[in-house]
Amino acid sequence: MKQLLLELFLVFLALNLILLCGCFPKEPGERLINKKCTACHTTSRIYKKSRPDEEWDEIIERMIRHGATLSAQEKKTIINYLKNKY
Ligand code: HEC
Repeated sequence: MKQLLLELFLVFLALNLILLCGCFPKEPGERLINKKCTACHTTSRIYKKSRPDEEWDEIIERMIRHGATLSAQEKKTIINYLKNKY
């Protein structure tokens, strides 16, 4: 019984750590970027500086030409996320 309580407590601690460190991004745009935009460079390249809205459209088109695979919906989600963030 004690063992079970200890295990439950450890699971509880682990869950809290995961939530606190933000390892699971809440925004769908951020999750997509982590999944789709890190094959060729890290996200620091993406978040390095703020850009005007039009530039994000151009950059995403360029990334697709470089070989990024995005559905039309994913493209929209990522562009909207980046425009609102910067
Ligand atoms: C197939 C490889 C690849 C993927 C996948 C990729 N990129 Fe890139 N990215 C590059 C290359 C190569 C460069 C440098 C050349 C350039 O700027 O076009 C770059 C540069 C960038 C830059 C800097 C551009 C500048 O003008 O400073 C940004 C921002 C960026 N990528 C965003 C993204 C985003 C957002 C995604 C996800 C949709 C993504 N990348 C996915 C290859 C990729």
